[in-house]
Amino acid sequence: MPHLQAKRILLGVTGGVAAYKAAELTRLLVKAGADVRVVMTEAATQFVTPLTFQALSGKPVLTNLWASDADNGMAHIDYSRDVDALLIAPASADFIAKLAHGVADDLLSTLCLARTCPLFVAPAMNRQMWDNPATRRSVALLRSDEVMLLGPASGAQACGEIGPGRMLEPAELLAQMTLNFQPKSLAGKRVLVTAGPTLEALDPVRALTNLSSGKMGYAVAQAAQAAGAEVVLVSGPTCLPTPANVQRVAVRSAAEMAVAVNAALPGVAIFISVAAVADYRPAQASEQKLKKTGAPLTLTLLPNPDILADVASRPDAPFCVGFAAESENLLAHGEAKRQRKRLPLIVVNRVQDALGSDDNELLLLDDAGSHALPRADKLTLARQLIDHIANLYSLKKQE
Ligand code: C5P
Repeated sequence: MPHLQAKRILLGVTGGVAAYKAAELTRLLVKAGADVRVVMTEAATQFVTPLTFQALSGKPVLTNLWASDADNGMAHIDYSRDVDALLIAPASADFIAKLAHGVADDLLSTLCLARTCPLFVAPAMNRQMWDNPATRRSVALLRSDEVMLLGPASGAQACGEIGPGRMLEPAELLAQMTLNFQPKSLAGKRVLVTAGPTLEALDPVRALTNLSSGKMGYAVAQAAQAAGAEVVLVSGPTCLPTPANVQRVAVRSAAEMAVAVNAALPGVAIFISVAAVADYRPAQASEQKLKKTGAPLTLTLLPNPDILADVASRPDAPFCVGFAAESENLLAHGEAKRQRKRLPLIVVNRVQDALGSDDNELLLLDDAGSHALPRADKLTLARQLIDHIANLYSLKKQE
């Protein structure tokens, strides 16, 4: 993770069960070369001892606003002045409310108020606390103050309930922090990304679709934005939040996606087509709900336009990147598709690995041959893919 090398990160740990995961996060950040200093709230020390973080970070852990462990008695402002990023993980509902309102009644909240660096917050709480209108208000205030929210994820919680509020896993937080320090290799470039499935309506309540969570496309949009690009994300229906500072255009069918892509194309330098576009649509979509008759039903399907191939064949085509989901012979099938669609780069993944999962592994095929990106979370892969695209793009510009 060269991007985190020598980066100074202040890790704030607040009171929650997920505090034990902050220990692993400290280890991962240090392993990635970051210079980590940990500040704990009083409540956090009830869950994990400062000694644990001291051992993992190799530095004294700060907990007290009043102890003069800083040389000039100014710990409350000094420690967040001299760092590249401040990350609160886990961030409790209480701490988020304090942050949103500028309350500074302990060392960590004071450091947040006195900071000059970007602030990242990884919420961790019970799902009802996360859904509470007061928390929603606080989170909206933080977003409008340009605080970057990392997560939360959904899933099983320490309280036995299931829902949103779980802290992102340490490896995901590491990937998010790494992204923040990514070189701005696409600064000033307009990048268009398609993501998710398309829905081809049969009637008002039924549709044909491809299975696609949209996770890979959203990660690619986020990574392109972090590399400095102005990103438009044309997305089929997904449950995912829009990545920060990305313009999302919501579509349903392939025909709508084609219209949105064409509308967004002017000025686009790079088009990355991650969407699982349905190859066919019903010849007719009934305006009324189709009635069950008991007799067999035959559907006539018409081919959809190939959005990517159409864009790539334009005389003024941007740099086009395709995705191919294959179940076997990845290299041969992927390369055939790259040639057929006339793409400088295609990204191949195995259907069995990719669908809905948070991890993936990719095979990149370009004029120079193949390049494997080993199994990792989708954000890490997206960041590596954007690095590769930025390299190819700049080489092409030099031709
Ligand atoms: O031919 P195949 O569907 O496997 O090609 C996959 C690539 O083409 C993906 O990048 C996908 O987003 C794009 N595609 C498209 N329009 C279609 C079908 C696929 O843009 N109708």
